Amino acid sequence: MQEKQTPRRFRWMIGLPPSLGLYKNIIRHHEEARVSQALTLDEMGILAGTDKSSIEHDYLRHYEALFSEWRDAPINIIEIGIASGASLKIWPQFFRNATIIGIDINPACARFAGDRVVVRIGSQGDRDFLSGVCREFPPTIVIDDGSHRADHNRFTFEVVFPQLLSRGLYVIEDLFVHFGPAAGEWSGAGGKPPHDMINDISNKLLAGTNGWRPDATLDALAREIDRVVTIPRATVFRKIDLDARPAWETNWPLVEKSDNWQNWVSMANLIDRKGGPAALAVAAAQKAVDAQPNNPVTRGRLAWMLYRAGRKAEAAAEVALVVSKSGGWDKVEPARRRTLERIAAECGEPRNIAGS
Ligand SMILES: C[S@@+](CC[C@H](N)C(=O)[O-])C[C@H]1O[C@@H](n2cnc3c(N)ncnc32)[C@H](O)[C@@H]1O
Repeated sequence: MQEKQTPRRFRWMIGLPPSLGLYKNIIRHHEEARVSQALTLDEMGILAGTDKSSIEHDYLRHYEALFSEWRDAPINIIEIGIASGASLKIWPQFFRNATIIGIDINPACARFAGDRVVVRIGSQGDRDFLSGVCREFPPTIVIDDGSHRADHNRFTFEVVFPQLLSRGLYVIEDLFVHFGPAAGEWSGAGGKPPHDMINDISNKLLAGTNGWRPDATLDALAREIDRVVTIPRATVFRKIDLDARPAWETNWPLVEKSDNWQNWVSMANLIDRKGGPAALAVAAAQKAVDAQPNNPVTRGRLAWMLYRAGRKAEAAAEVALVVSKSGGWDKVEPARRRTLERIAAECGEPRNIAGS
């Protein structure tokens, strides 16, 4: 009877030497793994032939720095715009555990689905389609490399950015098309170019609490933006850490340890500005007053925090104290005076103030 041969491809498992072909395959497999580990994202991009590489738009070296914290995370990455599938080749190499969701309006792009790569066919101008994809694959990174139409850039951002997970990144590529003589060709159904939206959001971040507001939609979106990074031809928005504990909670013990009255003033202001508990803001301001009882800065802040907490009589008494310690209303520093006058007007004019 003829002995049954172990198939050649399994021989190495039982200690038999594999065939030469199998050796070659193993070596090639290891070589590919080693090479893709060692390649930069930009090098992967050049090999794949995407125009994101440094021989064209030069986005990838920026992305390597910006995306690296997610390299091993099991996140969802949505890229709008597949074309010939070049960029869909690089994301699974760079992100070791991510699922890549390619979106394109062209049904022929369905052929680029593969290992860890999902394709959904639809338009970035379709709210239900975009929302459905985000529901199915809540994204941590989104890259808008689709139609490049101005109206689509803004629409997609408004629909998708709110769905981005904590600390996620949203990229709008190829913004250069909206400048120069051909800009009108990219306006789509009209409206402002995307760089106006980016400027509005950036200005909102720059203005801080100084009351500058873009339109209501952008104002709401900007509240969830931690950072805007503009690189040549593209902009990257980073979402705030939605899970972070409030800074006053995490930093209270450190401020306590710092034994610095100005830190308590800042802490009270922070709690007030961010809508934290009014009683906590009063407690922080009180700590500043305890350290500096004769300082109009600390007493003025305590007056404000008491006023904000609805403790009107105590707020009015604090105002009276600040004014009297300053030597009268006309001696109070103008910016502080405006605040104190507002409190006094709403909480009852304090009487018997020296110099008033
Ligand atoms: C610049 S190419 C994408 C290139 C690809 N990301 C890469 O780097 O290899 C743009 C793609 O967007 C697609 N596209 C155009 N309009 C679209 C729309 N409204 N919604 C979704 N995709 C669209 C086009 O079919 C095209 O495949």
